[in-house]
Amino acid sequence: MTENDFRVERVRPERLHDVRRRVLRGADPAAVVDDPRDDDETAIHVAGLIGDRVVVTASYYPSPSPVHPECVAYQLRYMATDFDVQGRGYGAAVAEMGEAELRARGVEELWANGRDTALGFYRATGWSTVPGSEHLSPHTGLPHTVIVKDLGA
Ligand SMILES: CC(C)(COP(=O)(O)OP(=O)(O)OC[C@H]1O[C@@H](n2cnc3c(N)ncnc32)[C@H](O)[C@@H]1OP(=O)(O)O)[C@@H](O)C(=O)NCCC(=O)NCCS
Repeated sequence: MTENDFRVERVRPERLHDVRRRVLRGADPAAVVDDPRDDDETAIHVAGLIGDRVVVTASYYPSPSPVHPECVAYQLRYMATDFDVQGRGYGAAVAEMGEAELRARGVEELWANGRDTALGFYRATGWSTVPGSEHLSPHTGLPHTVIVKDLGA
């Protein structure tokens, strides 16, 4: 299996639980790694795969933007790249496919609670931070900032 085997696909949300748990929840077996909206038809789940192994996860749910509530907006959750393959452009490739699908649906803005340690990734992929939105995540207790991306739809 080589890096050239990396591909991006829409998947069922259950396939994302392992990476969500290990990369975002410290492998805590008791952590909640699903979202109540996961099975909604409007949710979009994108995986980066090497062979059958899921190495990147990203999920998108319809949700009003806290910045521009008048826009058609989605929320990104569970953005994660497995530890051993970070920094190879895989996260950006998954985000690109997710955002292409959102644009095709007429979505104008994407928002998320971005983990502060990942803000460099988000800035590099076209997101902006919302001043004054710094907070601790109720899920992990870690510092987060609200981030937004104009999809130009
Ligand atoms: C944040 C994360 C998803 C990035 O995924 P990745 O596959 O490693 O990122 P990529 O290799 O696609 O990087 C794309 C760009 O972002 C930059 N980047 C990635 N992580 C970065 C970081 N922590 N700080 C600064 N820049 C970063 C890369 O240098 C690259 O920039 P370039 O296009 O100018 O070369 C991944 O590091 C991760 O899962 N981290 C732990 C979990 C996490 O914090 N998830 C976010 C929850 S909100």
